[in-house]
Amino acid sequence: MRPSSQVAHPDEDGVERFRVYKPVDFSLAEAAYAMHAVVDPDLAKLGARQRVGRSRVPVVLRTIARDGWPSGFRPRPDRVAYWRRWLLEEGVYTVDIPEQEGVALMTDVNLWVPDGALYPQGYRASSLNQKGGVGKTALIAGTAGALAMRGWRVLLVDMDPQGHLTTEALGLREVPEKEPDLAAALCGEYTGPIEDLIVTHSRPPGGGRIDIIRTTLDMMTVIKAMYRSRMRMPERQLDDLLNQLPEGKYDFVLTDCPPSLDLLTDNALAASQGVLIPVQLARTSMRALRLLLAQIEALEDELRLPKRTLIGMVPGLYRRPLSGVDRYIGGQLEELGLPAKKEASEEQSDGDKMEPLPILAHLPDLASVKEAWLEGRTLPEFQPKHELSAQLHRIALRLEVEAGLAPASDWEKLQAEHPLPSLAPLPTKEDKKNEESGRA
Ligand SMILES: Nc1ncnc2c1ncn2[C@@H]1O[C@H](COP(=O)(O)OP(=O)(O)OP(=O)(O)O)[C@@H](O)[C@H]1O
Ligand SMILES: [Mg+2]
Repeated sequence: MRPSSQVAHPDEDGVERFRVYKPVDFSLAEAAYAMHAVVDPDLAKLGARQRVGRSRVPVVLRTIARDGWPSGFRPRPDRVAYWRRWLLEEGVYTVDIPEQEGVALMTDVNLWVPDGALYPQGYRASSLNQKGGVGKTALIAGTAGALAMRGWRVLLVDMDPQGHLTTEALGLREVPEKEPDLAAALCGEYTGPIEDLIVTHSRPPGGGRIDIIRTTLDMMTVIKAMYRSRMRMPERQLDDLLNQLPEGKYDFVLTDCPPSLDLLTDNALAASQGVLIPVQLARTSMRALRLLLAQIEALEDELRLPKRTLIGMVPGLYRRPLSGVDRYIGGQLEELGLPAKKEASEEQSDGDKMEPLPILAHLPDLASVKEAWLEGRTLPEFQPKHELSAQLHRIALRLEVEAGLAPASDWEKLQAEHPLPSLAPLPTKEDKKNEESGRA
């Protein structure tokens, strides 16, 4: 195993950011699998035997190192054998092949990735729920604020044509007409540098920053324009765009979505490694949640995406004290966070068990959210000591762990020391009596 190495990258302000890089070694078999998993589906879609150059190899391996293996990937032995021969013929030797005389090991096959931070272009998450007004935008803006206050560089993407993130939450103007914008980039009309779509919102002390790709009026009609242009994979446009970001510029990329399961939400999902789900304590929430999870799975299958991480739910916008109905839904939501109960008969079939969907933080309805919006500032920047800011820092820490920028033990410690109060129905006198008699 090669040792890790520390490399200093000056960022655009000349501040040196250290990153530990660790080597990722692929064996010949893994490299052949990776080519099969990534290149073959593309070739199949093109319906052509396009030539693939050896420069494609590191790109493919980086994809796998970043996103993991595609979900449900079942390799075809003949194709794996084909790629194995191809790699050897191309002289792409991997660590497990002894170096042959006159043929150098292609060192690019052995990538360096930031240690723990597997996302050199930034960890990407989006705030998803097709229900309107559940707090998606408030969650994204607030989380970005917490991350920036913690010194991270955040890029926001406003995929909602309503533009609430751009205008209401952050107090920015929409992109002026004639300037390149997100809508033009999504439908392939703008192909210039992504930097020209980005503006800075704020730069709290400590090296953090919030930049944003703003929405525009044209986002209202962009879906039609995307279909009209007959592009090959309209769901992949945002991913393609964000893949142009230079490495090491952002630590997080957070996308705000419209309240629907449409092409824009699909784009956000295809471009994200993780998903945050804001929920309300309303009777319709459970059904909405089921629809959302089904949509995520369908898209993963359709686009052969690696499994997205369902980072967790964030119940919000409820009044305190909680009503009985609120608590009834709260209890159901909390149950989703528990590992699925394993019945004896289920032992063999691991197939359709849902992974636990934990609750990350609580964002009750408090006036400060609207006050921060009126100021065009994020809540953690506007009122760092506010109780909701503390909740948003919880979500920020969870994202740091997902991104490999903080150890998982930090999250466990936070949960142990500051557990969230339960939203479930309070125990009745009857329950208490039963519990006591059970104990005796
Ligand atoms: N915890 C909170 N306390 C008080 N007000 C909040 C809170 N969260 C959000 N709001 C306010 O509630 C309204 C709806 O929230 P938000 O815009 O974040 O929801 P959304 O899901 O993004 O809506 P849409 O589906 O329209 O995009 C906004 O005016 C916002 O300022
Ligand atoms: Mg919104």
